[in-house]
Amino acid sequence: MPRHSHSGVLVVFDGIDGAGKSTQVQLLQERLAGLGIPFIASKEPTNGKYGRRLRDSATLGRLAPEEELETFIADRREHVESLILPSLRDGKVIILDRYYFSTAAYQGARGLDWRQILQRNEEFAPEPDRLFILDLPPEGGVQRINVRDGAGNHFEGRADLEKSRAIFQQLSGPYVRWLNATRSREELSQSILESVLWALTAKTLANPSMDSSGKLEKILRWSQPPASRQS
Ligand code: TYD
Repeated sequence: MPRHSHSGVLVVFDGIDGAGKSTQVQLLQERLAGLGIPFIASKEPTNGKYGRRLRDSATLGRLAPEEELETFIADRREHVESLILPSLRDGKVIILDRYYFSTAAYQGARGLDWRQILQRNEEFAPEPDRLFILDLPPEGGVQRINVRDGAGNHFEGRADLEKSRAIFQQLSGPYVRWLNATRSREELSQSILESVLWALTAKTLANPSMDSSGKLEKILRWSQPPASRQS
């Protein structure tokens, strides 16, 4: 039995800052919307009280490692209980920009045991159906951050990003999809869409009664060559 049984599809994007994660999150949303497939999008840290505290700490000064870890976990518990699990149980597609893999990679980079962090999260947070890890050497990431924001924040020092990247590289699981972020954004977006549609097809076939919005038919239509789509 899976830890959390549900008929939804949980798609997670993760990776070090500046790898183009937000762009791919945005492109996937546009493409799913274009196909008429409903979804919910969210991110971590959230905009709740713990999430706001963490965001403030990125500019005001970081919390001590243990306190930071506990705050990310408290933020996630709230997110899982209020949005993630109820939506998955309703059979919805959820797209998350960062999840507990970031906690393993970033708080792990501060010297905490990343395997233990994963274990703690796995006790309450549902496993994703797809985890896209966008990988880029930190120099590339730091450059993109500087272009975007003018300067990195306290989470984005280069040495830390290298440690986080090394942890991301050790993650494994049937849902992990490793993506080289130097590929073109269109190419990446196409692979991501195909992978998400596969996951969605598998879930829908296993739970046909949950397909009230006709997702399967939309995916089938999308997979036809253009000529046969018109007929
Ligand atoms: P994010 O909101 O993705 O940054 P931005 O939108 O400014 O690009 O995340 C803020 C920072 O929080 C990011 O540097 C990664 C870090 N983070 C952790 O350290 N642990 C976590 O569990 C999560 C979810 C994020």
